[in-house]
Formats: sequence, C-alpha cells, structure tokens
Amino acid sequence: MERTEDKKCIGEQTNPANIVILGAGGDLTKRKLIPALIKMLRCGLLHPESKIIGVLKGRTKEAWLESLYKGVCDFAPDLAMDEQKWIEFTAMFKMVDGDLQEELTYQALLESLEQINGQTNAMFYCAVPPRWYTTIAAGLHKLGLADESAGFRRVVIEKPFGMDLDSARKLNNELQELLDESQIYRIDHYLGKESVQNLLVYRFANSILEPLWNRNFIDHIQISAAESIGIEYRANYYEKSGALRDMIQSHLMQVMTLVAMEPPVEFTADAVRDEKIKVLRAVRPLEEGSLKEHAVAAQYGSGKTDNEDESIKAYVAEEGVSPESVTETFAGVRFHIDNWRWQGVPFILWTGKRLPKRVSEIVIRFRNPPFNLFDAHATPPMANSLVFRVHPDEGIALRMNAKMPGLTTDTQRMVMRAPYSENGEDVSDAYEVLLHDVLNGDATLFSRADEVEESWSIIEPILNAWKDRISVYRYRAGTWDVPGMDDLFEDCVDGWHKPS
Ligand code: BG6
Repeated sequence: MERTEDKKCIGEQTNPANIVILGAGGDLTKRKLIPALIKMLRCGLLHPESKIIGVLKGRTKEAWLESLYKGVCDFAPDLAMDEQKWIEFTAMFKMVDGDLQEELTYQALLESLEQINGQTNAMFYCAVPPRWYTTIAAGLHKLGLADESAGFRRVVIEKPFGMDLDSARKLNNELQELLDESQIYRIDHYLGKESVQNLLVYRFANSILEPLWNRNFIDHIQISAAESIGIEYRANYYEKSGALRDMIQSHLMQVMTLVAMEPPVEFTADAVRDEKIKVLRAVRPLEEGSLKEHAVAAQYGSGKTDNEDESIKAYVAEEGVSPESVTETFAGVRFHIDNWRWQGVPFILWTGKRLPKRVSEIVIRFRNPPFNLFDAHATPPMANSLVFRVHPDEGIALRMNAKMPGLTTDTQRMVMRAPYSENGEDVSDAYEVLLHDVLNGDATLFSRADEVEESWSIIEPILNAWKDRISVYRYRAGTWDVPGMDDLFEDCVDGWHKPS
C-alpha cells in the first residue's frame, strides 16, 4: 500500500501533567501502563517534567520499581532498557504508600502533588477492581484533588462498568455526584486499537464506501473476537462475567456503533458519541421468547491446541472455576438496527475463548449478484466481503471473484489485501493512544455514561434469560464446533465466517 506521508507524532504535551496510578502494584501497571508511558515519552507525547506517581500499599519504592522493570522485560521486551537508562527514566517516578480506603493516603497524594510546583494538571488512573472506583472518586473529591480550578483533573476507569443495567446506573450516579461527567474517562481499550479507529477514517475519508454502506448492498455484518487463550487465572472475575459481559456488552458493541453510525457533524467527542448512542437506541429490543434464534452461549470442554501437541483442559477444570459452572466462554448475539440505513441487516457479534486462533475482525458481507451467470462452474462464486482486521495483520481485505487463468471461464476466489502497516511496527498499542487522549482531553474514544447504560439495557433480556440456566452447550477447545452458531446465520449469505 502506498503512503503519501510518513506518520508523525502529534499532540506533544505543552504543559507537564502528572500521571497518578492508583493501585500501581498490580498487573495492569506493569503489563500495559508502564510500556505505554515509555513509548509516549520516546515519542515526545509525555512532557519530560511530568511525574508518574504510583499509589500502592506495603512495598518500598525500590521493590516497586524493580517489579516494574521486570514487567517491562517480560511483557514489552522491545522496550526494555539497560540499567542506566532505566534509572534515568525512573527519575520521574514518585510513590505514595497507602491504603486506598484511608483518607491519609489522599492527604499524602495531595502533598506529593503540591511538592511538584506548578504542575497542576493530573490524570488519575484507577488500576484497581471496579468496586474501588467510587471510594477513589470520593477520596479525591474530599481532598479537593478533583478540583479543576488550577488545571485539569481527569479520572480514568476501565470496564466492567457495572455487571448489569442497575449496577451500571448506580456506578454512574455515584461517580457523577463526585465528578463532572467530562472528568470521567471510561476506557474501552478496543477503541484504542488503531485498526478500530482506522475504521472511521476508511468510512469517512473515502467516498467509495458510503454508497454501498447500507441495506441495499450489505447482507449482514459480523464483528468478532476469537481468542486462543483461556481465562488466564481470572476465574474470580470471569465466573461472574462470562463472554457476553466481558466482550460483547463492551468492546464488540462499541465497535458495532462505529460500523453503523451516521457521519458525525464534526470529529469531536460529543459529535461522535451522539451518533454512537443513536445506533444503540435503534437496536431492536431482544425478546425473551425469541432468544434461542438470537443468542448463543457455550463453554469450552477439553481439547487440543492448533498443532495438536498440547492438551487444553476444560473450562470447568480451570483453577478457581466451579466444576458445575455454566458460565459461557463463547457468546454470539444477532442484533438488528431498526433505522433507514440498516433495516433488515443482521449484525452478528461473537466472541470466544480457546478457539483455534486469535483473530478479531469486522466482516461486511455484501449481497449476492441478482443473478448468477456462473452457476454451472466448479467453484461457485462467493459473495463479496470487506474484512477489517483488528488483530492480527491489521488492515483490510476485499474478497472478490475472478476468472481462473486458462481456456475455461471457471471462477476463483481472490483476496485483495491492504495491510495497515507493513511490519506492524507503526501500529500503536491501545493504551498509549488512550493515555495520550486523556492528557489531551479528547474523549472521542471513551464511553459516555449514556452509552454504557444503553448497551446494558440492550443485553439485559439475555442476562435475565441466562441467569438461572442449569446447563450450557459445550465446544471442544481448539475447534470452531460451537453448537447453535450456524443457526444464527441461517438466512445470511455464505453463513458463519470462521476466520482463516
Ligand atoms: C479484555 C477482556 O477486556 O479484553 C479479556 O476482559 C480479553 O477477557 C481482552 O482477553 C481482549 O483484548 P485484546 O486486546 O487482547 O484483544
């Protein structure tokens, strides 16, 4: 793919902004946040006078920094640096030792921020389980740490935002009593993936797609996230969550809004989010009586990995999972969007753990030509598809039919690929994109309270129908043999697209 200009780092920080990580001793900090901050610093996106303040309990600063160093080496080896460089980098680190439930901790944080003269902007990243969000917001509020009179104060939280509609509303209300909605940045890391943002550019910076982007040409749309990993020692969370909450209510529904929304009047956070919420409001309510045709749940049993040399244990045999568990590790839901553009076009969202491959993509499947001239040929033509690959091999692919070389008019399927980046090296990780946006006050890629509540209300009928189930379908780990999935695509051209 030709490019006309090299990618540049944009949005350098003109003023220092302190990054406060609450719960900085956990996994998220070392796996994602520190690597993202290193990249931002290298790219000039983090002001060199900014400070990174970790709030955690029961560790010395040396032990904390050592664990971060090890984390970078283990999880982002390409960013690892020699000891001298690390020491220079960690000069911008401060640590506050304290319990997030105690006022003293926020007092110490306030003092620590006051010592950094003139640096009034601050981002507070809650790297803690969601049950702490309100406690943290209250602690910040009480000590005036959320007061924006001398600089911005932004609070970042990660999904899950509630476990159902009621708990999401409660969380939103509690946070909005302590903070202004404009101060709350609800991260959906999927929206930070460059290839997801690229979808907006493909849609709105090219004119050839718009005439096709509707019910007249599109048969159905599949939005998927297949994972080969299991639950990775997160049984405690996953047992209560399941695939529907974990991926569909959040990441995949967010992606659906970007695929389906109308062009915003301008590229600003509220203009984009206003269009996204209209999509959610147009989703046809799912009725409990018809859920069998609209939603699939399944759980992985034991199986083998792709190369058949490693066996995978069943979900119910994972550490911390109840042997009787009926939690779904695979979920598929068929939505309809009742508006002029999408009437009659199914949007099928699906995700699963322990599938043969890790592939996340958006497949726009077009209608068949009105009449098939090539019916008698050995390879019947397939409907055209436009595939946006979110992971791996980020980019787009257009599936077409072409003539087979030779004397016959037999057809063959061909794929035109446009990788987003040649070697993947310019594809930024979601976290640095999102942290950079928070510092710049750009909330376009963050979920607004109304979007979160609307998406919970859409899946509420499924949650209700599934909550008392006593059994769940099984699929063999490492296969696509998920019962019921083909039925979701019964009337869809060329059926379920299993990623290749
Ligand atoms: C998280 C889910 O939000 O997203 C995980 O909780 C899932 O279960 C992960 O594995 C997938 O994200 P990514 O970026 O690895 O595709």
